[in-house]
Amino acid sequence: MKTARFSRVGFVLAAAGSAVGLGNVWKFPYMTGENGGGAFVLVYLATIILIGVVLFLGEVIMGRLSRKDSVSAFRNLAPKNGHIWKYSGLMVFTGIMILSFYTVVLGWIFKYIVISFNNLPVSATESGMLFGSIIGTNVPNQIIYFSLAFLLTFFIVSKGVKRGIERINLILMPLLILILLVLLIYAINLDGFTQAVSFMFNPDFSKIKGMTILKALGQAFFTLSLGVGCIMTYASSLSDNTNLYRSSLMVAAMDTFIAILAGLIIFTFTFHFGVEPSGGPGLVFVSLPPLFNEMGTFGTIVSLLFFIALAFAGLTSAISLVEPSISFIINNTKLTRFQGLVIIGIVTYILGFMALLSNVKDLKEYVTFFNTGFFDILDFLSSSILMPIGGILVAVFVGFFIQKDKLRALLVPDMGEFIFKTWHFGIRYIVPFGVFLVMINQLFFS
Ligand code: PHE
Repeated sequence: MKTARFSRVGFVLAAAGSAVGLGNVWKFPYMTGENGGGAFVLVYLATIILIGVVLFLGEVIMGRLSRKDSVSAFRNLAPKNGHIWKYSGLMVFTGIMILSFYTVVLGWIFKYIVISFNNLPVSATESGMLFGSIIGTNVPNQIIYFSLAFLLTFFIVSKGVKRGIERINLILMPLLILILLVLLIYAINLDGFTQAVSFMFNPDFSKIKGMTILKALGQAFFTLSLGVGCIMTYASSLSDNTNLYRSSLMVAAMDTFIAILAGLIIFTFTFHFGVEPSGGPGLVFVSLPPLFNEMGTFGTIVSLLFFIALAFAGLTSAISLVEPSISFIINNTKLTRFQGLVIIGIVTYILGFMALLSNVKDLKEYVTFFNTGFFDILDFLSSSILMPIGGILVAVFVGFFIQKDKLRALLVPDMGEFIFKTWHFGIRYIVPFGVFLVMINQLFFS
């Protein structure tokens, strides 16, 4: 099947749609809050620059050279032993794992769109209770919103209206940035802002403990959609004349900018309302709504637009999580696109359902393993283990098994010889060894 190619901006749009999502606005702030603030941010930023961007470009290249799904990319590009390398491409299934808890959170966002209309909490305490009841006690309601998020994602993928959604994103992503900027202006005038800045940018290294470094690395992978074949799959339909280097930099810069912006805003209001920064996955849902309420009618509108824009950012990421496994199934099995979607859908729904239950007060014990709820297990396993492993495989493959001349021909016109050499060194050595060392060190020695 010949797939349609992206226009020049099309790839940037799709890749940014994948990268910018709940990871930036929901996950980054609460991970920062849970892992001690500045030191976490510092490791995160270092990882984005030294590993994230380098690897992002590596995935783009694999997609662009193979023009196929990840499994076929590894198989076809390997000079020999393609039948072994192809198993690396199975990283696409990590996407399903992420998608399952991602749709649960997307469900919470849908719920907050409705709440924006008439139920915004007046205080931080009320806000905390509201969020607690949404995820912890009001189970049928949560199942409805989760199912809605799930159905919408699969509906969009099955109808092939992804491009349409991305076009809507062309309006909604700038809108999200605009709302964040409005909130930032509001935030700057509050006392909490100085505290937020110092919390995020004044690293206290004594706060680095346990898995902090691995989690920061995992967050960098998560936010740039790395190590699951998403970027590779999108890059497989790149047009020939796209500037790979510039596109990759643009996506990474935009993604990081949005995360930092979201962090500053959320921590300002966290401190302003006296919410605990280490409050976990509820942070954005607890700290922002009382603020929207405080802003009056204008706040209702801002709240509505904020959650709608966030829902779209999340939806485009969710879609990108299904795409790689679907394109693998179509290219490598006899199943049709629809059959593939049904299978992936069933697995996602079951895993997501279990993740949802693991936050429910009376039921969590049934979905808790090794003292950890299923939601957290899926998150940790995907971000801190499977994505980094996927990343190492891509880096080793691109660095050592794709001919340097081929890479040079593709990249040097855009980035020049010096940056190319630095990049090649990075993907050969810094990425694989860096990620490997962090994993070993944190998993076994912390
Ligand atoms: N990058 C997305 C986000 O930040 C999540 C994602 C991870 C999407 C992996 C695709 C692949 O929300």
